[in-house]
Order: sequence, then C-alpha cells, then structure tokens
Amino acid sequence: MLEAKNIQQYYSGSHILRDVSLSAQTGRVTVLLGRNGVGKTSLLKSLMGVVPIKSGDIQFDGQPITRATPYERARAGIGYVPQGREIFGRLTVEENLLMGLASKPAGTPLPPQLFELFPVLKQMLHRRGGDLSGGQQQQLAIARALAAGPKLLVLDEPTEGIQPSIIKDIGRVIRKLADEGLNGQRMAVLLCEQYYDFAEELADDYLVLERGAVISQGSKAEMLSRGVRRLVSI
Ligand SMILES: Nc1ncnc2c1ncn2[C@@H]1O[C@H](COP(=O)(O)OP(=O)(O)OP(=O)(O)O)[C@@H](O)[C@H]1O
Ligand SMILES: [Mg+2]
Repeated sequence: MLEAKNIQQYYSGSHILRDVSLSAQTGRVTVLLGRNGVGKTSLLKSLMGVVPIKSGDIQFDGQPITRATPYERARAGIGYVPQGREIFGRLTVEENLLMGLASKPAGTPLPPQLFELFPVLKQMLHRRGGDLSGGQQQQLAIARALAAGPKLLVLDEPTEGIQPSIIKDIGRVIRKLADEGLNGQRMAVLLCEQYYDFAEELADDYLVLERGAVISQGSKAEMLSRGVRRLVSI
C-alpha cells in the first residue's frame, strides 16, 4: 500500500533521515521503533508531506505521491494521527470529527462505525475537545483520522501519556482496523511507538531507526529472534 524508498531529509544543515526505505502493507501493522529524537516523527511527517524531503520516492496505492500536498495524500487515503494528538480544544467532539472529513465532498456523513470503535465519543459528542481526558483525546484523534475512510492509518506514539486501560482499548482498535478496517476492508497501519511491549504485541512487521537511519527491519518473528527490545530500551 505504501512504499517509501531512499528518503533523505534535512532541517537546515542537519541530516535527519538517512536513506530510509519502508513499506506498509494492507492487513498488517508495521511498527516504527526508536529512541527519543532519532527521527520517527520527521519520517512520518515526510510521508504525510508536512515536511519536504530532499530526495527519495514515495508511492501509495500504486501512485507516486512524492510531490503531493498533505491534503492530496489525505484524499488519496492516508489518515494521520499526529504526536500530541493536535485536537481542537475549543471545538466539540463532533466538530473535531467533522474536520476529518475535510478531504471529502461537503455533506459526507461521519461513518457510524466510529462510535462502535469508540463508544465514549458518542456520549461526549457535544463536549469540547479540550475538556476530554488525554486518553479520550487520543481516541478522538484516531477517530478523526478514520472519518474519511483511509486505506492507511499512520499513528505517532498513540500511547504517550495515556492510562493503561485506554492503551488496551487503542491496541484492540488498531488490530481490528488492520484485520477488518471500518467496514470489512482491511487497512494498512504504520505505528510509531516507544512503548516496546505495546509495539511488539501489535507488530506484523517492524523497523528500528537510529540517528535517522534504519538499523533493523523485518517480520515479527525476526523482531523476537533478533532481540529488538534491546535496541530500543533506554
Ligand atoms: N522543525 C525542526 N527544525 C529543526 N530540527 C528539528 C525539527 N523538528 C525536529 N528536529 C530535530 O530532528 C531530530 C529528530 O526529531 P523527531 O521529532 O523526528 O524525533 P522523534 O524520533 O520523533 O523523537 P520523539 O521520540 O521525542 O518523538 C531531533 O534531533 C530534533 O531535535
Ligand atoms: Mg516523535
């Protein structure tokens, strides 16, 4: 579904991503691991077109998107849950969800399955986003990214600062999205994480970044046999 090849990225003079290649396949969860500051968020932003890349090639669903705008990538079917959630605190839950439909024709309704995945959002539909707990805001950010029915969901550290019971719920949702999507159409999931146990449980495939370069990459079985936990523990 997503194929990125030889991505190079710089912030002013510093080389942030060094020849990074990765893929994310439909029906599979690909986890992106790495310690603080290694370039995980920069990589996801470059896949989303939020920051420009110096060179490299990105294909999505068989089409080149290397030069597409973030809006065009969303419309092509990539949903993005940014680090820190970035929900609109003064807008209601419902208004936040409707923002997720910006790439769709006016009047497109919210998929009702969102509320089956996250029942709490239905109860809180008219509350302000800023009044939700951190875990509820994370669920809202995921639901907003799902509103347009993406084929690929990209999540940047969804467990950061979230209580364990909600982390479990989010894990179940991610597995379900890969296996059956919102409406029976399997999804590709690219999950960036520092919480190793959560990542290991969900992973079908993995890659590890260190100082902007991929230092290990493979399947779940390889993740276990190569002792990847050791590469990312602090
Ligand atoms: N806008 C920016 N301008 C300059 N340097 C930046 C910018 N954003 C990030 N960096 C630097 O790029 C490097 C990678 O940052 P990035 O946020 O991608 O890491 P990360 O792996 O997501 O870290 P974390 O685990 O803390 O979220 C860091 O050294 C960071 O300081
Ligand atoms: Mg980050």
